[in-house]
Amino acid sequence: MYEAFYGLKGKPFQLNPDPAFLYASRGHKSALAYLKYGMYQGEGFIVITGEIGTGKTTLIRSLLEQLDRQKVVAAQLVSTQLDAENLLRAVATAFGIPVKTPHKAELLAEIEAYLTALVPRRKRALLIVDEAQNLSPRAVEELRMLSNFQLGNHALLQSVLVGQPELREVMRSARMKQLRQRVIASYHLGPMDRQETQGYIEHRLARVGWVGDPQFDAQAMDEIYAATGGVPRRINTLCNRLLLSGYLAEKHVFRGEDVRAVTAEMKDEGGLDLAVSQEEGSPALAEAEPAGERATAYRAAGAGRGHLAGDFHPGQGLELAGGLGSSEGMDPVSLQQRLLRLERAMFTVLDLLSELVRKESSGAPGAKPAARQREQG
Ligand SMILES: Nc1ncnc2c1ncn2[C@@H]1O[C@H](COP(=O)(O)OP(=O)(O)OP(=O)(O)O)[C@@H](O)[C@H]1O
Ligand SMILES: [Mg+2]
Repeated sequence: MYEAFYGLKGKPFQLNPDPAFLYASRGHKSALAYLKYGMYQGEGFIVITGEIGTGKTTLIRSLLEQLDRQKVVAAQLVSTQLDAENLLRAVATAFGIPVKTPHKAELLAEIEAYLTALVPRRKRALLIVDEAQNLSPRAVEELRMLSNFQLGNHALLQSVLVGQPELREVMRSARMKQLRQRVIASYHLGPMDRQETQGYIEHRLARVGWVGDPQFDAQAMDEIYAATGGVPRRINTLCNRLLLSGYLAEKHVFRGEDVRAVTAEMKDEGGLDLAVSQEEGSPALAEAEPAGERATAYRAAGAGRGHLAGDFHPGQGLELAGGLGSSEGMDPVSLQQRLLRLERAMFTVLDLLSELVRKESSGAPGAKPAARQREQG
């Protein structure tokens, strides 16, 4: 509706997870790096968790687009309210395996035969389960069993589990011990910071031909960040409304008060999910403290962290980069500095890993990827 008024070629803030709009924030970049590192291992599970609307499905779609179809056969499960029996059937269907039998043992054999037949064709299978927080523990157990299929030393199936934070709870439970031992990389995707929120908005607009109309002043960006906590879906919803209101009022510049007016309106309608849960730790609009500190609080609560190999310790991600140590009683500025150092260290590790992966896949002599301390489960 407002596109023509602002000279845009398309809709900048749609809610569908379209990878053509992918903005590479630090979190999204890291998550992709963990996914690619995990895929390079070619076995076990990769687990990506993240708050609601942070971009998990968009990331997965982007990964699927980048896959070399000559080498990888990927299947995605979209419906995940599945019990164990349906899960195997859904896996078979997702790979296009004709299911002829009602019996589980035969179904398993059919899946195994399909996966085995990929090996001589130099292909491997990747199963992606989105919304995996909805899987029942028994269904997860079935997935683990599928990960046991091997030909010689060669794992026949690798799986990516993607889900909201409840998935971490599922993974923590005692009965998931065997699955945890097969997790080779995991990453928790948090919201973006203030700068990235601005970068994200400008990136999406630029994607549809934006050349500065409408303009957002710094306070408008501050307000958008404060209202949305840097969560992409919330940013899209809010910006959509903002641009619509700008079109109706024939505005070409948005200021802080314009954003406040729109968020107030949306809150009244109950249309913008501005209330952020305590667990999420990011800002609700009404809170008084500055956005920077709130973002720090969120990061301290554990946003944007990854973990490679071995057992899955949801509280351990940041230790990859050298240890957060105790943050108790630390003032927000020191804590933020410490986190920034840690984040830089983590990026260095990721760069090293990417370099290793690059060397290995180009056949150049180089160190092997980090050894995995995997127990047999
Ligand atoms: N990195 C990104 N670049 C561009 N757009 C993004 C990005 N991350 C998320 N979005 C946009 O935000 C919206 C929500 O993204 P998506 O559906 O991928 O989130 P999700 O984490 O899968 O949500 P849910 O928890 O509900 O499954 C979509 O419109 C998507 O296009
Ligand atoms: Mg999703």
